Amino acid sequence: MPPNTTWFNEAKFGMFIHWGVYSVPGHGEWMLYDEKIPVDEYRRYADHFAPDDWDPRDWANLARDAGMRYMVLTARHHDGYCLYDSALSDFTAPKTAAKRDLVADYLAACRAAGLRAGLYYSLGDWHHPDYQAGPESDEWAGFIEYVHGQIRELCTNYGQLDVLWFDAARPGCVHCWQGEKLLAMIRELQPQCLVNNRGLLPADFDTPEQKIEPSGEDRLWETCLPIGHRWGFYRNEQYYKPTTRLLLDLVRITNGGGNFLLNVSPMADGRIPEPQQQILGEMGQWLQCHGEAIYGAQRCKFDTHGTFTVGATTAKGNSLYIHLMLWPGPGWALTELSNTVQSARLLTTGEEVEFDQQGDRIVFPTLPEEPPDPHISVIALELDSAPRNAK
Ligand code: GLC
Repeated sequence: MPPNTTWFNEAKFGMFIHWGVYSVPGHGEWMLYDEKIPVDEYRRYADHFAPDDWDPRDWANLARDAGMRYMVLTARHHDGYCLYDSALSDFTAPKTAAKRDLVADYLAACRAAGLRAGLYYSLGDWHHPDYQAGPESDEWAGFIEYVHGQIRELCTNYGQLDVLWFDAARPGCVHCWQGEKLLAMIRELQPQCLVNNRGLLPADFDTPEQKIEPSGEDRLWETCLPIGHRWGFYRNEQYYKPTTRLLLDLVRITNGGGNFLLNVSPMADGRIPEPQQQILGEMGQWLQCHGEAIYGAQRCKFDTHGTFTVGATTAKGNSLYIHLMLWPGPGWALTELSNTVQSARLLTTGEEVEFDQQGDRIVFPTLPEEPPDPHISVIALELDSAPRNAK
């Protein structure tokens, strides 16, 4: 039996978290590689990664209040540091200054908040000498045993996982990673866990990165992108994506039937930088009012992303939601709708909206002059059947 995908399909919005010893200096999660730091020197950052006051419930509450339905934490990134208790490594949180199984605490908080719980695991491991030796070497078999063993630990010691999010299967040959065997083990130990496509097998969902690229109709997909410029904490980050743009991304992803995994980057002590919290709060406020147009929405047959110039649309049953990022004011017309409109309301305010249907053209003569929402205002149309384009 393949895992049940309904929750994922309906969830639409999740929190990605990149956190590890690289959060101490705050140069992003690639610093070991980018700055060519000797591994022994890099390992010393673990002496300063001791998030004693970190309360994972703060993360879970933030995610829930942002309208997110699941979380995915980097249990181990490319640098090899495990946020969890691995018997196969000494470069782990419980065995260094953190003195704590951060993954266990995170999972407990996530579940207590009613969120689905996922883990990211990087197959590549820069700190492991056998990884450096490469797949042609004699050491590789031992490295694969280590990787499969660590994934077995995650699948065995932490209760039910909802998502396993692999990354960095480089070199990209399935047999190098014994991908089939790995997936079979996960299916056996965690039959309900959804697995992404970066273990080199298609598995359960695709993961377009920093772009919106809907997969074929029968495939689940999830866009991931960082809220700032980098995934791991970068000190003095000065660039954040505007809330309106992130909401438009969410709407366009929903239009294409996908999910949005938005990454935040906590500091070493576990606090999520204030500007990130603020953006999430604003997204949550918008979703509180407009969530009906997002959660459980299906791929929209009315417009496909990019063709609707003033925003995007989403669809659920016989409802069409028109998300207007540019607010046109009274007299605006929607075109190319092949359905009959039965009623219209401004989802943003709950008020009925006047409309005049002229064939496939729907005119809204009395829309407010000013945008009702500071980010994206939404008109909800009830139709005679599922929305379709007249073209
Ligand atoms: C990029 C980054 C990597 C990050 C990943 C998330 O590939 O290089 O560090 O974990 O995106 O999708």
